[in-house]
Amino acid sequence: MKMHMTIVMALAAALFLFPALSLPDAAKAATGDVIALPPPDKTGGMPLMKALNERKSRRGFKDEAIAQKDLSNLLWAAFGVNRSDGRRTAPTARNSQQVEVYAAMGTGVWRYDGVKHTLTKVLDRDASKDFGAPLTLIYAAPGGLHDAMHVGSVYQNVGLYCASAGLANVVKATGVDILKNDLTLSAGYEIRIVHPIGKPD
Ligand SMILES: Cc1cc2nc3c(=O)[nH]c(=O)nc-3n(C[C@H](O)[C@H](O)[C@H](O)COP(=O)(O)O)c2cc1C
Repeated sequence: MKMHMTIVMALAAALFLFPALSLPDAAKAATGDVIALPPPDKTGGMPLMKALNERKSRRGFKDEAIAQKDLSNLLWAAFGVNRSDGRRTAPTARNSQQVEVYAAMGTGVWRYDGVKHTLTKVLDRDASKDFGAPLTLIYAAPGGLHDAMHVGSVYQNVGLYCASAGLANVVKATGVDILKNDLTLSAGYEIRIVHPIGKPD
């Protein structure tokens, strides 16, 4: 019991010292701030064969922010950790995990940390205007033999989640330059494709 209390107090102290904002605070966040995503729902969604049957590109979006649960599920589906050894929802050659996922929204541009399931604000601007969608996932990777394949696996995961959740989405090669000069990516990484998402209009 004493040990249990000590652990609880240590966790509380850690949260006090390193607070992660919750999603409703996202609009107030400054660059560098971290928000904690709610846990993804790993048991829901439509049957896989139905989702495959529903998957399609749709280019018109309602001007309505993505729900917290969808944002969490989308990012986890994209490239979250799905096993205790740290491997991800999308395969990568030799488990290199060399894909970066950014979420561009009205509240700014955020970098996804799949290990912590958090978002870190990297740009303070209304990025929904940049892409004409409430949410655009931006996929960055190096330029090696397998990197485009990795990104393709990630966007297919997201496309299937969108089909399951009734969200419109389309991957766009034409949008890769929009934030090219504004986002600081890891060395050697480039934006490979962008993925606008929202409720269908
Ligand atoms: C690598 C890649 C790049 C694409 N780039 C664009 C694009 O720049 N603009 C666009 O409107 N659609 C783009 N698309 C969507 C395709 O036009 C779409 O997938 C295709 O017409 C088939 O339609 P479906 O996705 O509904 O099956 C792209 C798709 C892929 C896979």
